[in-house]
Amino acid sequence: MIFLKAPWEIEKMRRSNAIVAEILAALREAIRPGMATLELNILAEKLCAKKGAKPAFKGYRGYPFSLCVSVNEAVVHGFPSERKLKEGDIVSLDFGVLLDGYYGDAAITVPVGKVSKRAERLLRVTEEALYKGIEQARAGHHLYDISAAIQRHAESHGYAVVRQFVGHGIGRALHEDPQVPNFGKPGRGIKLKAGMVLAIEPMVNEGTYEVEILADGWTAVTKDRKLSAHFEHTVAITENGPEILSKV
Ligand code: MF3
Ligand code: CO
Repeated sequence: MIFLKAPWEIEKMRRSNAIVAEILAALREAIRPGMATLELNILAEKLCAKKGAKPAFKGYRGYPFSLCVSVNEAVVHGFPSERKLKEGDIVSLDFGVLLDGYYGDAAITVPVGKVSKRAERLLRVTEEALYKGIEQARAGHHLYDISAAIQRHAESHGYAVVRQFVGHGIGRALHEDPQVPNFGKPGRGIKLKAGMVLAIEPMVNEGTYEVEILADGWTAVTKDRKLSAHFEHTVAITENGPEILSKV
C-alpha cells in the first residue's frame, strides 16, 4: 500500500532529510586517507544526536551500525570497521534518520584523495543516473520511467545496474511501497501521484550487475570484485515536479 503524504508530512520529511544531507556533507568533508571507517560511523552518530534525530539503520533488521560504509567493490550495506581508507578508494556512505515520526534516507559515493579516472567516471555517471531518474519522478508519469532513465544512462556508459537491491517508498517507515528498481521499461508500473515520496538509489557496477553477500550477512559486493557506486536521494513528487528533500 502506497501512502500519499500531505504537505505537512512532506514538511516533516524536509527536516529529517535535511539532517541526513548535512551529515553526509560533513562526512564527505571529514574523509581522508588513513581514517578508519568506524570513525565515520562515530561522527555520524555524534552529529545525529546533536540534531535530536535517531539513526534509522541501527537495529533495522539487526543491522549493527548507524552508517553503511561500502568501499570499492562493496555495493551497499558495508560495515564500518577498523579498516583504514586509502588514497584512491571510493566509499559509499548511506545514512538515514528518524525525526518526529518521519524518515530521511540518502547516500553518496565519495573519492578518498585522488582517485583513478575510471573511478571518477563511475561516480559521475552514477550520480547523473540518479538525477535522470529524479527528473522522471512526476505526477502522471509511470514508476518505471524512473527505473528506465537510470538504467539507460548507466548502460549507455557501459555499466550495469544492480538488480538485487532497489529504491523504495519512505515516510513513517524507512521502507514503504512501492519498490523502485533501477531497471525497467518506460510506461510501465504504477502511475505516479503528487504526495508520493520515493528514495531513489541507483547502484551501478563497472562490470557484472551480479552481487554476493559476504560472511557478515550484510555486505554486498560485486561478484567480479570490480568497482560499484551508489547515490540516493529522498524525493517528493509534488504538483510542481520532483522536490529533492535530502539536500542541504
Ligand atoms: N539506504 C538503505 C536502504 O534504503 C539503507 C538500509 S541499510 C539497513 O535500504 F541497514 F538499514 F538495512
Ligand atoms: Co534507501
